[in-house]
Amino acid sequence: MTTVLKLGGSVVTDKETPETVDDDALDRVVDSIADADVPELVLVHGAGSFGHHHADKHGVTPTEGSHDADGVWAIHDSMRRLNDEVVGRLQDAGVSALPVHPLSAGARDADATLSLPTASTATMLSEGFVPVLHGDVIAQSGAGATIISGDELVTHLARALDADRVGLCSTVPGVYDESGEVVPRITRFEDVANALGGSDSTDVTGGMAAKIRALLDLGAPASVFGPDASRGSSPGGRSGPSSRADFQLTSPGRPAPRPTRDRSVPGRRGRRPPRPTRPRR
Ligand code: IPE
Repeated sequence: MTTVLKLGGSVVTDKETPETVDDDALDRVVDSIADADVPELVLVHGAGSFGHHHADKHGVTPTEGSHDADGVWAIHDSMRRLNDEVVGRLQDAGVSALPVHPLSAGARDADATLSLPTASTATMLSEGFVPVLHGDVIAQSGAGATIISGDELVTHLARALDADRVGLCSTVPGVYDESGEVVPRITRFEDVANALGGSDSTDVTGGMAAKIRALLDLGAPASVFGPDASRGSSPGGRSGPSSRADFQLTSPGRPAPRPTRDRSVPGRRGRRPPRPTRPRR
C-alpha cells in the first residue's frame, strides 16, 4: 500500500516571513506522521515562504524558464534548505526520511512533459525509507529551468508508483461549497466548479481548482485535509471514485521495515526540547 502525501508550503512555513519554518505546525505534522507509522509513505512538500519568494525575484514560473544559474540555484538552494529541515525533523522523530531533489533527477522536454525517474524513490520505499521530495526548479529543454510544483510531483509519483492513496495537507480542512461547508466527497469537477471559481485553466502551481482536477484525473482515492485532520477532526474534500477515499494518517497495520535506530528521541510522542537552527549555507 503506497501513500503519497503532500505537505503544503503554507502548512510547514510561515508564509508572511521569508524563509521561515512554522516550527509548531511542522512539529505537529511530523509528530502525526511518526505516530501513524504509515508503510510505504512518500512525502512531498511545497515551497511556502522559501522557494516562491526566490522564484518571484528571478521571474521563474512553471512556464517561464531562466538560464541564469545564480537565480536557479537561489530557488533550488532555498528548497534544499527547507527539505533539510523537514527531513531532519522527521529523522529526529524516528521517521526514516531521506531527501530526493527533483532538480538532480528530472527534466522537462520542450513540450513541458515531465520525466522524473522514480527508481530511487521506489527502492527507498521498498527498503523502508520515507523519500521526501519537494517543489523545485527543473531543467527544461529550450527554456533553461522552470518551476515544478509539489502538486505536479504528487500526481507524477502517484502514477509512476501506482499509489493506493494520495493526500494533500493544506491550510484549509478541505474543499468548501458555496455555503462554506466542507464538501465530504467529490466525484466530478463540475459539482464543485462554482464553489472553486470555475475552470481556472491558468491555475497551474496552486489553487484548489487545479488540485482537485489533478486528483480526479488520478483515479486513486485522494483527500484534501487540514493540518489537524489526523488529530481528530474529519478530513474533507475527498475526491475520487472510491469510498475508500478517507485519508487518515493511520497505519493499516503493516509496519514498514525500518533500520534499527534509537526510538527514544525526546519528543517523539511528547514535546521535544527546542532544537538548534540548522546552519545555513
Ligand atoms: C513550488 O511548489 C516550488 C517552488 C516555488 C520552487 P508548490 O507550488 O508545491 O509550493 P506550495 O505548496 O504552493 O507552497
